[in-house]
Amino acid sequence: MCGIAGCTGDSAAAEHVIESLKRLEYRGYDSAGITLGGTLLRTVKVSGTVDHLKKTLFSGDHRGTRGIAHTRWATCGEPTAENAHPHLSCDGGISVVHNGIVENFSELKDELSASGHVFLSETDSEVIPHLIEHYYDGDPLRSTALALRRLTGTFAVAAVFARHPEVIVCAAGGSPVVIGLDEKRTFVASDVQALSPYTRRIIRLDDGEIALLTPGAAQVYAAADLQPRRKEIVLLPAETVSSGKGGFEHFMLKEIMEQPVCCGNALKDRLDLSRGMVVFPGLGLSVRELSRVSRIVIAGCGSSIHAGLTGAYCFEDLAGIPVSVEQASEFRYRNPVLEPETLVLALSQSGETADTIAAVREARMKGAWVIAVCNVTESTIAREADSVIPLLAGPELSVAATKSFTSQLIVLYLLALYAGRGRRLPQETVLRLLREAGDIPALVRRVLEQAPLIERLAKRYAWADDLFYIGRGNLYPVALEGALKLKEISYAHAEGYHAAELKHGPMALLDEHVPVIALVDPACEAEKICGNIRECRTRKAPVIVFAADGFPPDGPAVRDVVRVPACSRYLLPVVMAVALQLFAYYFARARGCPVDRPRNLAKSVTVE
Ligand code: AGP
Repeated sequence: MCGIAGCTGDSAAAEHVIESLKRLEYRGYDSAGITLGGTLLRTVKVSGTVDHLKKTLFSGDHRGTRGIAHTRWATCGEPTAENAHPHLSCDGGISVVHNGIVENFSELKDELSASGHVFLSETDSEVIPHLIEHYYDGDPLRSTALALRRLTGTFAVAAVFARHPEVIVCAAGGSPVVIGLDEKRTFVASDVQALSPYTRRIIRLDDGEIALLTPGAAQVYAAADLQPRRKEIVLLPAETVSSGKGGFEHFMLKEIMEQPVCCGNALKDRLDLSRGMVVFPGLGLSVRELSRVSRIVIAGCGSSIHAGLTGAYCFEDLAGIPVSVEQASEFRYRNPVLEPETLVLALSQSGETADTIAAVREARMKGAWVIAVCNVTESTIAREADSVIPLLAGPELSVAATKSFTSQLIVLYLLALYAGRGRRLPQETVLRLLREAGDIPALVRRVLEQAPLIERLAKRYAWADDLFYIGRGNLYPVALEGALKLKEISYAHAEGYHAAELKHGPMALLDEHVPVIALVDPACEAEKICGNIRECRTRKAPVIVFAADGFPPDGPAVRDVVRVPACSRYLLPVVMAVALQLFAYYFARARGCPVDRPRNLAKSVTVE
């Protein structure tokens, strides 16, 4: 789960490759490295971020018209400078960056060691330059292809050779590789965002392809037999990435604050109030076709799965379609039954989550229609699905999902109304629900106005190392999401539970040191969750209530209450999620955590 970048044909190769690498840090940021140069290869590697690499590199010689670089999320071997990429061959004449996993690295390492190769790192990736060296006969393309054929697992690689001073060889085998071209320069990277400052002309390598890059040119071949492949050059839309924090201390806070606009984008052009309809241009499924769907399977990971769990309530309630929500990581390993009328929704902000990609492939192989609900429309999941619903949330750079989560909730809600319209929902009801949906941006804005209150509360509880989040109905998955948000950025242990489940075991952990965050919809089973809150108070647990306006005044005595605006029960998860994001943000900030880049994590999880 790493990012690779490279450039040939520009005397500022180091600057370009480092800039591309910065844009790939969402794939990992625990160590980084670069190889620069033509006939003399110079490699600099550090433990830490790309900024650290940049400082180290630019304090010394960084000349060269060719470079390859890597930002890492450690899988095999600790995040040390030795384990950072690029890795070199024994003679130092071949340098390689790798994204993916070499599953058979142990046996390859034994074999290569027996023939005299010496390894300097604990990584799986280091076998690649040694294998290439083993096969090298003067042809960089053939030796790389022969080496890659020996690997089992996944890879995206870029390799440079001291004996071929302008060439980069790159190849894809289960991990993405894009090539960028302009008249005099050629670039390679793990995704198009990394190339967008330099060129809009790109070639995407398919799995099983290998390419020889020279300044201003790229020749692509099938890796299996080195037969040339004709590849289309795609013109990317002009750059849309916003790279700054817009005056906010962290991307996460900026992205939380952007939500009124993002929610508006998720709704815009999809509400047809004059006809009381939802419209999804480019969906490829009409209301009638959708009404024939017998079951919906929602697959995703992390926050995306929480959005899916929330969406399931809408589909079952509004459209009467049975839904199962699947962890994408488990989906393809348990031989799921998909009838011809099963619709699969693949939820992913990044569109590059390995487990979700695998679920999409499994579902399509079994004949299901797959809709990707994705924020990155250029991503693998978006390209491989039968159709795509873009989240339109704009780039999300903080590791914690915020605006993409609320946008997913809105899209799923609209899709449930779209399906419900063809099944059992009368037009007047759809129209009323659509009008209510139009209020979401204003409702979210009202939650954001409460940031100072939520900040005070978060600071007051920032001592806590263990917390529970409880909810009922469609606020139960929001409790899971609230707990995930808190733990990933603050390193406090937080568990989300259905409120009724606490007494089936976890309640044994409650005492005055374990705060409970209770999510309350006063219009839905309020007396039940009030009972659950009393049970927690009886065990001396401090309780913080997040409730929609109307939280019963005769409810349990709790000191700390955050009131969010009352709204339809289908929209409350959006409003509540925003309040919980703020709580997690201020809690983590009070604990001095690196909010945007929590330890051990990456924005995009590209390994299974
Ligand atoms: C959310 O805050 C997490 N960082 C993480 O759980 C994330 O939602 C998960 O990795 C799935 O990512 P995706 O939506 O890009 O597929």
